[in-house]
Amino acid sequence: MKHLLKMLDLSKDEIIDLLNLADQLKYEQKNGIEHKLLAGKTLGMIFQKASTRTRVSFETGMYQLGGYALFLSSNDLQIGRGEPVQDTARVLSRYLDGIMVRTFEQSEVESLAKYGDIPIINGLTDFSHPCQVLADLMTIREYKGKLEGLKMCYIGDGNNMANSLIVGGLKMGMKVSIACPEGYEPDDEVLSFAKEFDCFSLCQNPLDAAKNADVILTDVWASMGQEGEAQRRREAFEGTYQVNSAVMSVAKDDCMVLHCLPAHRGEEITAEVFENHASQIFDEAENRLHAQKAVMVALMKD
Ligand code: CP
Ligand code: NVA
Repeated sequence: MKHLLKMLDLSKDEIIDLLNLADQLKYEQKNGIEHKLLAGKTLGMIFQKASTRTRVSFETGMYQLGGYALFLSSNDLQIGRGEPVQDTARVLSRYLDGIMVRTFEQSEVESLAKYGDIPIINGLTDFSHPCQVLADLMTIREYKGKLEGLKMCYIGDGNNMANSLIVGGLKMGMKVSIACPEGYEPDDEVLSFAKEFDCFSLCQNPLDAAKNADVILTDVWASMGQEGEAQRRREAFEGTYQVNSAVMSVAKDDCMVLHCLPAHRGEEITAEVFENHASQIFDEAENRLHAQKAVMVALMKD
């Protein structure tokens, strides 16, 4: 593994290795065992979109690993004034030991990897959010003790989260069912991967998708960069694509609920369901730290 660009690139064994390392690093951090595995290393963090969790967990994680993380807002970089990503990649490769990037186009992340010669970590694109899904899988495994055979249900927009959950869940042997409105389906590349699996289903009815689920996930109706479509999206999603008590009533009694956050209560999830599952959702947020430390160690350690 040279980069973390999207879940499609990872093998099942690579995912398991990352989750095991994340568990180990979490245990060590909780027990005051220092692990300065990246002493002297520098991570550049390029942000073209807002972030709370990704920025703070990468920066803190790098500090805990003995390294340094540099916040690079694209507004202040020449990339924001049109310097090609190919040149940015080759320049930053001369200074840094790794780059985490949050941007719009998946192709930009792929270009950084192609032209640079240091590890690139996708901190969210319109297509993929692999760091989040590693944390999600880690959290499910923590609560359920396994992933294989569990039913994952995702209700909402076929966005970066849906794309990454489908691939991550199926690779780990989970059953994956998705409910989204017509016209808001996951990416074609992801659907052609998923259709090889009998345990994948895509429908428009959340109650069908949630039946007997072990874990239900959702995400915002309009992602970053889609603010102009918010009204049209609201009309497509409102009244149906929400994790609420009716949805929970058809899932297993011990069904977990996860949300990558930020959440819009009253839209994709009710306040009641959110608060009933808040401990799971905030464990999930915490696990971003541990999962990303595992990714950085796997990619950047000498
Ligand atoms: N879930 C997530 O990536 O959060 P941020 O946008 O706050 O980084
Ligand atoms: N789908 C959301 C995820 C935020 C973490 C977005 O891209 O804005």
